[in-house]
Amino acid sequence: MILITGGAGYIGAHVALELMNQGDDVLILDNLCNSYRSTLDRIATLTGRRPGFVLGDVRNRALLDTIFADYPIEAVIHCAGLKAVGESVREPLRYYDTNVGGTVTLCQAMAHAGVFTLLFSSSATVYGDCLTMPIDETCATGQPTNPYGQSKLMAENVMKSMVCSDERWSVGLLRYFNPIGAHRSGLLGEAPTSTPNNLLPYLLQVASGQRAALSVFGRDYETPDGTGVRDYIHVMDLAEGHVKALDALRHQHGVHVWNLGTGMGYSVLEVVRAFEKVSGISVPLVFEGRRAGDIARCWADPEKALSELGWSARRSLERMLADAWRWECHLHEAKAVPLVS
Ligand code: NAD
Ligand code: UD1
Repeated sequence: MILITGGAGYIGAHVALELMNQGDDVLILDNLCNSYRSTLDRIATLTGRRPGFVLGDVRNRALLDTIFADYPIEAVIHCAGLKAVGESVREPLRYYDTNVGGTVTLCQAMAHAGVFTLLFSSSATVYGDCLTMPIDETCATGQPTNPYGQSKLMAENVMKSMVCSDERWSVGLLRYFNPIGAHRSGLLGEAPTSTPNNLLPYLLQVASGQRAALSVFGRDYETPDGTGVRDYIHVMDLAEGHVKALDALRHQHGVHVWNLGTGMGYSVLEVVRAFEKVSGISVPLVFEGRRAGDIARCWADPEKALSELGWSARRSLERMLADAWRWECHLHEAKAVPLVS
């Protein structure tokens, strides 16, 4: 059985679905601070099975000890965390407590229970403002400009030190680039509980009429059209990457870092135009100044994950946007777009 912390959230739910579809048993631990219990019903509808669920906090050591005593957990995928950059600037202690403290508590409970296989949701944000593209795993980690990014880097360092001190550990640090999209059924996707900060969820809310216009943050970057360029990756490709990484960890010890990205960069305007083409909906834009802490360009070299895990992202930008829009339409009972094959 695989324990997924934060498994009711956007990425964890897609990972749970993928693991269950390949026959694994999944137990989700989530305090639902940024997700809904109904996600469990959606996973059950799509897989024909219900994941196990414990409502609780990853910082609760006593609860973790009970979970490891009660369930035959072989490995943990640690997705639980807080991820809003602006909020992390306003409430840094809450971010360090959850993202770093939660990781320490989880690792202590795992070691106590004799479970040493761990995959961690890290982020390309740990590279900071890397000057050379694409970014491979040998690039130095930078100085993340906000407490969220710092907390991810600190959590990585905690796990690296831990692995150095005890060779029984098998730890995978998965550095996600920009996950977007949804399950192609349109039944599972990202459901922000407050105003979204990231490009895609905001764009979807503009397209579905919940918000007036999309702010484009900066059009004077050194990129082909002046807007920021990112490596958007389909959440189902990301989920498949977790399954491959977990398989790899079963056969090797130590700490392993893998970028999960496509290797392709798209600008904000390219994403908007592709979305308009896929959905047939025009997105009103307002050009604004650069957002504090943003970088111009960021895309992955995904070669290491290909050679070591046999994994690469397969789904196109159009597919990511069509799936995301189908999910948004489902959420708002609007007319869904046809499947892109
Ligand atoms: P999400 O907010 O949808 O999911 C996180 C889940 O963790 C939520 O269900 C939330 O309720 C739960 N959670 C938060 N604090 C908890 C706690 N103390 N105890 C138990 N559960 C708790 O976010 P996501 O997009 O699915 O991200 C998952 C992980 O991936 C996070 O660690 C995030 O930092 C990381 N990440 C996300 C992105 C992205 O763009 N989505 C990019 C890079 C890294
Ligand atoms: C952001 C975080 C990063 C985090 C990641 C996933 C910042 C500075 N970085 O990355 O730490 O790991 O989310 O949670 O917040 N954009 C707009 N209008 C919008 C929203 C975004 O133009 O309303 C632009 C941004 O300027 C950027 C691109 O779209 O160029 C992507 O932004 P976003 O989706 O927020 O992701 P990142 O900035 O890459």
